[in-house]
Amino acid sequence: MVNAIILAGGFGTRLRPLSCTIPKPMFPILNRPLLSYIISRMIKEIHGLEKIVIAVNYRANDIKAYMDEWQKILNVDIIINEERRPLGTGGAVRYSKNILDGEQFFMLNGDVLSFFSYQDMIRFHESKESMATISAIHVKDVSRYGVVVANDNGLITEFYEKPNTPELKEKYGIRPINAGTYLLEPEIFDIIPPHKKVSIEKEVFPRLVMKRKAFKYEYEGLWKDLGLPEDYLEGNFMILDLEQENHEDGSIMSETAVICESTDIIPPVCIADGVKIGKDCEIGPYAIIGEDCEIGDGVKMKELVLFDNCLIDNFASIEHAILGANVKIGKWARIHGPGIFGSNVCVSKNVTLMGSKEHPIKVCPWKTITRESLEAIVSNPMFFH
Ligand code: GTP
Repeated sequence: MVNAIILAGGFGTRLRPLSCTIPKPMFPILNRPLLSYIISRMIKEIHGLEKIVIAVNYRANDIKAYMDEWQKILNVDIIINEERRPLGTGGAVRYSKNILDGEQFFMLNGDVLSFFSYQDMIRFHESKESMATISAIHVKDVSRYGVVVANDNGLITEFYEKPNTPELKEKYGIRPINAGTYLLEPEIFDIIPPHKKVSIEKEVFPRLVMKRKAFKYEYEGLWKDLGLPEDYLEGNFMILDLEQENHEDGSIMSETAVICESTDIIPPVCIADGVKIGKDCEIGPYAIIGEDCEIGDGVKMKELVLFDNCLIDNFASIEHAILGANVKIGKWARIHGPGIFGSNVCVSKNVTLMGSKEHPIKVCPWKTITRESLEAIVSNPMFFH
């Protein structure tokens, strides 16, 4: 038997201002909450999975409301455990001791998409008699992550957080990074102090390395940490690429979507229930459109994610952006990201917003942007709050 805990209580500050009104684990991936992706894969893959704890804090009610409905159709126990204050990655696990104690368990970050074999990881863990097995994967740029150094037997000898100077990148660049899924034995609880904010990566795993009890499980495959807006877009596109292979014309299209014939759909795209698209539009590639969005005539959109209920008026053009729920974009408006728009934002007609890597467009929820308000901005040209 094995259990699992998903950490879903972080503030998601790097995804602000969109995460001001929706917690990161509820961000949609091809129009389904990220959390549901993670849970579905676990249920499908892990034999004998008995219970899943979801450790929540920030915007806990959003996650509870979704899980209340969804868990009725699942055949595992889902337990939502709410911390009164954020306890960090280690503290959150310790806080679930009473629920998890006695069995080995997976611990997952609730903001990572990863495709590896859980069963294979269990076999590896048991063959090493490991106390903590840490999944690891190679990425192009290690500088944002924790690097895992291990010997030929997989025994971890060192962790190095965020090697970001040229020398450190050269030294650690050939190593895999911590991929955010762990398989742990209950003895781990003995070394996490209770009622305290604790980081499992920085405070607990290094102690296990000293005791020679942590092993690296390295795998190859798809992996994406969804910490930044750019990562979130790429994660959606990665899953779109994966899932479009099961669709003949490369588009995942709801049967209830209504699209004018003269509109050009450039795959891959994903269009949800109740979407309406007018005539002479160019949609895609990489357009993910949420439920009940309405798109006028002559609209151009690519490389974006629209949450539910967005309204895009005639001849608007949007590229490389994430639009929260109920966002309205006026006629002839032009948005060229990178950009992230909070829920209920309104961009008036004829407004042009151009983001860049250094100055991505960020608009706080409920903000209205008009041509006049743009002229009044002098400081950070693309941050609207
Ligand atoms: P940033 O604020 O942008 O760094 O995002 P974050 O708050 O999600 O932090 P981070 O990406 O480091 O968190 C990794 C995972 O741990 C995410 O799934 C978070 O939801 C989760 N997490 C982080 N801190 C806590 C906490 O104090 N309690 C719980 N329950 N989960 C946490």
